[in-house]
Amino acid sequence: MSDFFTFENMINHAHGATNHFPIALLFVSVILDAVAGKRPYLRSTAWLLLVLGTLGAIAATVTGLVAHLAYEDDPILLAAIEPHQFLAFGTTAIFAGLAVWRWRSLRRSSDVGGTLPYLAIALVGLAVLGVTGFLGGNLVSEWGIGVSGVTR
Ligand code: HEM
Repeated sequence: MSDFFTFENMINHAHGATNHFPIALLFVSVILDAVAGKRPYLRSTAWLLLVLGTLGAIAATVTGLVAHLAYEDDPILLAAIEPHQFLAFGTTAIFAGLAVWRWRSLRRSSDVGGTLPYLAIALVGLAVLGVTGFLGGNLVSEWGIGVSGVTR
């Protein structure tokens, strides 16, 4: 148990601890915007989840970059990691862009959340996020990256 709290072990687990936040929060944010209609409390919750989910995507990107450093010298593992990495950059850029766009619209007392262009871009973001998460899961379960475990 005491080995768990070493700095190295915490760094190794940081990506696994952070990457589910953007997946959960951003999916719920977009779903709430799609169903909110004229209910302002759902619209505000969607905005809050967008902000938290985008911060989570930034945290997952930073911890992911740290996690992949150990595999930099292996071209085969690096080739497996790169599609996940670049889609993660795309995910983070899309939702950061949406957050800035929405923040600017809210400052003018309107809310772009729930408009057709916003939802269209958000849906593309969710698709990219979904594939990012799927490929991340493959890194662990298919490639065994970051795993010291047992398979039966
Ligand atoms: C939006 C950002 C990101 C999301 C949502 C994300 C999501 C995931 C998910 C779901 C996994 C499966 C592992 C698990 O269940 O914990 C994973 C693993 C992994 N990801 Fe990411 N990721 C992101 C960014 C990145 C970036 C930028 C890199 C840099 C190369 C990266 C590198 C890795 C690596 C090396 C693994 C396997 C080892 C480990 O989990 O530490 N990820 N990621």
